[in-house]
Amino acid sequence: MDWITISGASVPPLGQGTWRMGEDAAQRTREVDALRAGIEAGLTLIDTAEAYAEGRSEEIVRDAVADCRSQVFITTKVWPSHARRAEVLKSLDQSLRRLGTDWVDLYLLHWPAREVPLAEAMAGLADGLERGLARHIGVSNFPAPLMEEAHRLTGGRVFANQVRYGIATREPEVSLAAAAARLGTTLMAYSPLRHVMGPDVPVQETLTQIAQAHGVSPAAVALAWTVRPQAAQWVAVAKAASSAHLAENAAALQLTLSAQDLERLDRAFPAGGEDIKLQEF
Ligand SMILES: NC(=O)c1ccc[n+]([C@@H]2O[C@H](COP(=O)([O-])OP(=O)(O)OC[C@H]3O[C@@H](n4cnc5c(N)ncnc54)[C@H](OP(=O)(O)O)[C@@H]3O)[C@@H](O)[C@H]2O)c1
Repeated sequence: MDWITISGASVPPLGQGTWRMGEDAAQRTREVDALRAGIEAGLTLIDTAEAYAEGRSEEIVRDAVADCRSQVFITTKVWPSHARRAEVLKSLDQSLRRLGTDWVDLYLLHWPAREVPLAEAMAGLADGLERGLARHIGVSNFPAPLMEEAHRLTGGRVFANQVRYGIATREPEVSLAAAAARLGTTLMAYSPLRHVMGPDVPVQETLTQIAQAHGVSPAAVALAWTVRPQAAQWVAVAKAASSAHLAENAAALQLTLSAQDLERLDRAFPAGGEDIKLQEF
């Protein structure tokens, strides 16, 4: 799966998360190497945030992309406590310095801000866009009505909304996905392997069978499912620490699930759940 074109922009469909990277200095080389291995495998979207390890996660990203910056789509985020208009630009500037780059591909408001009017926060993000420091802007953890409001306030410039979504966490399908399809806003799935993979999570039987039939790992099936064609355009960021996991996840880029696979997965992981609720920081 090559980079896809969304509203004239080129975006990789699958990428790598960096939450918790940078917390332990002893892991730094391993984390940089993991990101580099992921990039080489085709996972060229990297998601980070000023809040991750107090900015040290962004420094890990800097080291990983130092010689391939233009081949990587970097997303970073401003924390809601910095959502005042002037503070957003200050945060963006500091993120750029830690990332060692002149621009980020996508700059998001990490969560809705309790203390700052949405119009002001979005004006701060739009400033970054207008100065060429961010190529696209967006939001994260926004329920449908608030995403629509942010979109309106920016004159339709909310490129993406990053929310939790995966085969076992399908809440965005309740109302967010339809709203995003209507607006043409990209949805970026975070934690797509939540409740599906991980040290203490038994792998679900249907997932295992479909993975075996395609000769890939269950993680690859879960990721291919997350970015399957839908009315709303989804991309996804998963986090993997080992080169084995990265290779498995990158295999999702080549995997197309059949209609029958999708039906079986739909029965095994039914849609529904509660609509995304507003949570402010
Ligand atoms: N916007 C937000 O508020 C927000 C919130 C949460 C996360 N995020 C972003 O989304 C990224 C991903 O989310 P996440 O880190 O919560 O969860 P995730 O990517 O859904 O899951 C990570 C877990 O899955 C395991 N894993 C990965 N690939 C695997 C494979 N092939 N086989 C078996 N296990 C595998 C990882 O193990 P190993 O580490 O051992 O490989 C780790 O335990 C974050 O890093 C962050 O960038 C954003």
